[in-house]
Amino acid sequence: MPSWTNLSYANVATTSPAAHRVSLEWSEALARGGAAEFDGEAEKNGMIPLRRAAARLLSCDIGDVCVGSSATELLCSLAWAISPPSGSNIVSTRASFPSTVYPWRRVAEENGAEIRLAGHDEDLYTDPEEILALIDQDTSVVTLSHVEYSNGQRYDLPRFAEAAHSVGAVLIVDATQSMGMLPIDASATGADALVSSGYKWLRGTYGAAVGYISPSVRDGLVPGLLGFRSHADLWDLRADRLELADDASRFEYTTIHFGAALGLAAAVDELVQMGMEEVWRHDLSLADSVIEGAANLDLKIASPLSKAERSAIVSLRLPEGVSSEEVARRLQDEYGILVTSRAGLLRVSPHIDNDDNDVRMLLEALAEILA
Ligand SMILES: Cc1ncc(COP(=O)(O)O)c(C=O)c1O
Repeated sequence: MPSWTNLSYANVATTSPAAHRVSLEWSEALARGGAAEFDGEAEKNGMIPLRRAAARLLSCDIGDVCVGSSATELLCSLAWAISPPSGSNIVSTRASFPSTVYPWRRVAEENGAEIRLAGHDEDLYTDPEEILALIDQDTSVVTLSHVEYSNGQRYDLPRFAEAAHSVGAVLIVDATQSMGMLPIDASATGADALVSSGYKWLRGTYGAAVGYISPSVRDGLVPGLLGFRSHADLWDLRADRLELADDASRFEYTTIHFGAALGLAAAVDELVQMGMEEVWRHDLSLADSVIEGAANLDLKIASPLSKAERSAIVSLRLPEGVSSEEVARRLQDEYGILVTSRAGLLRVSPHIDNDDNDVRMLLEALAEILA
């Protein structure tokens, strides 16, 4: 089996061993005995361990958390739930991961709302002032990636929450590139909802994601996606009525890969146990090593470097004429090192499974490839 050095948690985690084991055990139980091994009661409670773990991670109540299959799915359900009205506008950034914006685009087209995207410079940097300048009395939604996937730019969420709320809009945050990398106190962000997929910084597998829905907006929200699990008492199966759960779990509407959710719960528990302040310190220290080493190779850093806007994602601009795709491929094929090529940049995103030695190997390999 090849041995990989994964320095690409912004892409896909090498799954936490604890998450992998729990997920596998669930799959094996199902393969052995179907509902004898995973019965109705287990199915009913299948989201609880992840909700509990995520609530600890986000310093919120378990009732504020729901589980889905992917960040995109939760964002789609939120977009239809909020359903920005005709004539209103939705503010985001051109640098966003498409899933941060597309769900709103679909609803905006249906309702006759406008999408406004702040532009960026050649390093994909978005001036926060430009985002704020797009917000006006007609804004219904501000939707941001807490940390931008391409260059790791981090936004000051309370500032955007305040701007959104001052005009009666909601702030919806895609935290897929921040949850598990840095400490997040959900209510302190001011966001009305935060979602994150599970297979990046949280170190789960594909197939599970978490959402935080603030009590301030939750009650009035009818999820865009409904199914048998949407009813508060899910085994009282009657199609002629629907009472939504009175907490965030109203956004849970059907079966999912429960093994993925149970595994992700174990991975999140690990992060909580390590302490997110310590995880953040570790990840930033590795990012520092990448930045320092890249400077020694005369590579330009496209990521913001200020304390307030940086993250553990470091995107490098390679010399003119050198393809980031090609370098990422050679790092993988010849050195077993995983980084990602995004928007012409070489994106490095180290996490808790990495140490300084991994960064040193990357820098040595880069020096050889670029020589
Ligand atoms: C910011 C952001 N949101 C969402 C996703 C996709 O998440 P999911 O696959 O859970 O829909 C990604 C994947 O790269 C991402 O970077």
